[in-house]
Amino acid sequence: MLDVAGISRAAHHRGWRVIADTTVGTPFLHPVLKVKDAMERPDFVIHSYTKDLTGTGTTTAGVVIGRNEDMFLPKGESVMTTSANGESRKVGWDETLFWNVYYIKGDFLDSDKAFEVLNGIKTLELRVLQKTINTITLAKVFDAHPLINISSNGSLDHSLRGGVSLPALWAHTSGSGQAGAM
Ligand SMILES: Cc1ncc(COP(=O)(O)O)c(C=O)c1O
Repeated sequence: MLDVAGISRAAHHRGWRVIADTTVGTPFLHPVLKVKDAMERPDFVIHSYTKDLTGTGTTTAGVVIGRNEDMFLPKGESVMTTSANGESRKVGWDETLFWNVYYIKGDFLDSDKAFEVLNGIKTLELRVLQKTINTITLAKVFDAHPLINISSNGSLDHSLRGGVSLPALWAHTSGSGQAGAM
């Protein structure tokens, strides 16, 4: 599990922008945009709707979430905005995602796909619940192994022998390197 807040802070200090793909974490288990400090928030978040969100594999779709002025400006217009690190930045209409990516590539979600996504999201809770149960089960199996330590930066307090908790988990062997589990 990546330290998105730490990565965002380090990147923003250097004047870089951050894109987080939180498809696997889901918006529920990995709500990176809820972080209060703008320095620790990614500038863009991506979700593939194709995976957990729609859930049934019946459509291909996705979303990019960003600040209004990065997503769309009326043709010909520009605005001054403030970056996460407090620096002023001018955004032109042709730099916005709408004109620069969607309009040129024709990447718009059609209404049938949008319907599939909305319908699928109704059962997201079931998938998140199952995913959470699976993750705890896997963590318990790893935790029972004498050569594996489980540690977590999650906030819920479902402690196992090694102090594991959700939503964020990773397992590392005491001998060599790291193995990820989510
Ligand atoms: C983590 C992650 N993000 C995004 C995508 C892209 O998703 P899509 O299949 O909806 O284009 C994938 C596809 O495998 C993925 O694994």
